[in-house]
Amino acid sequence: MINRYTVIGQPIAHSVSPDIHHVFGVLTQRHIEYTRTEATEATFSNVVHDWKERGGLGCNVTMPFKTLAMDVVDRVKPCALRAGALNTIFMHKDGSLVGYNTDGSGLMADLRHSQRVDPADRRVLMIGAGGASRGVLGPLLDRKPRTVVIANRTESKAAELAALFEQDGPITATSIENLSAHAPFDLAINATSSGLSGDELALPEGLFSDNALAYDMVYSNTDTPFMTWARAHGANDVADGFGMLVEQAADAFVIWQGVRPKSRLVYPRLTHLRQ
Ligand code: ATR
Repeated sequence: MINRYTVIGQPIAHSVSPDIHHVFGVLTQRHIEYTRTEATEATFSNVVHDWKERGGLGCNVTMPFKTLAMDVVDRVKPCALRAGALNTIFMHKDGSLVGYNTDGSGLMADLRHSQRVDPADRRVLMIGAGGASRGVLGPLLDRKPRTVVIANRTESKAAELAALFEQDGPITATSIENLSAHAPFDLAINATSSGLSGDELALPEGLFSDNALAYDMVYSNTDTPFMTWARAHGANDVADGFGMLVEQAADAFVIWQGVRPKSRLVYPRLTHLRQ
């Protein structure tokens, strides 16, 4: 049986999700066909339903449709409700569509297993207060960090996001200018949609504790501006979002196929995506 999946986004031509799911299929001995599908805001709903009609068993949803997708599914799982967005749809045999979000669990899996950083009892900085940030805050707070500080260019958006998650753990909002008052951090995550280039986003000095990890949620084969900046300003370690991409895909694969490909077997087969 061919298990058909796709990733829907705009733009989508450079998505590496098909390569990742191909490896998962090989390792778990499932016959997976995983394609890329382009949509617009106007066509997104039809594209999803059309995929189901054509026998698709599920799809991933990426930028810029993750929030819109919440209105397209019949049921939303708590992980997606909390994130306010979804990235995975399970298409049931009865025709119903169920939405999940694996971004946060994917980030946590990468932090713990590849980066060897458990946010538990750590001081965590989250830069940015948009969808990317909201998508991961729930699972991050579940790890019981000592504190999470959300810093955003527009402070009011950080405050709104902190209020949304205040039941879930110790979370504070600040502007980027006032960030120093909360430093140092053991883990700093860049969840802004901007590169940290030129004078676009000027972070203060002294952000990092000894042994801190600076993590950019963006996937890039060269150091991102945030990674370069963090290395030069005292971060002990830096990482881009490739591992998060792989782990969120693995979590989607578990939802669809009920089996998790082993990370230690997956990464050596994906080295071509890192060149
Ligand atoms: P996403 O879904 O990728 O998070 P978003 O909801 O548009 O996208 O949010 C983008 C985030 O990146 C916001 O936190 C935004 O800050 P503002 O709320 O102040 O707009 C942040 N961001 C984008 N460009 C930025 C820049 N040049 N400097 C600082 N922050 C930036």
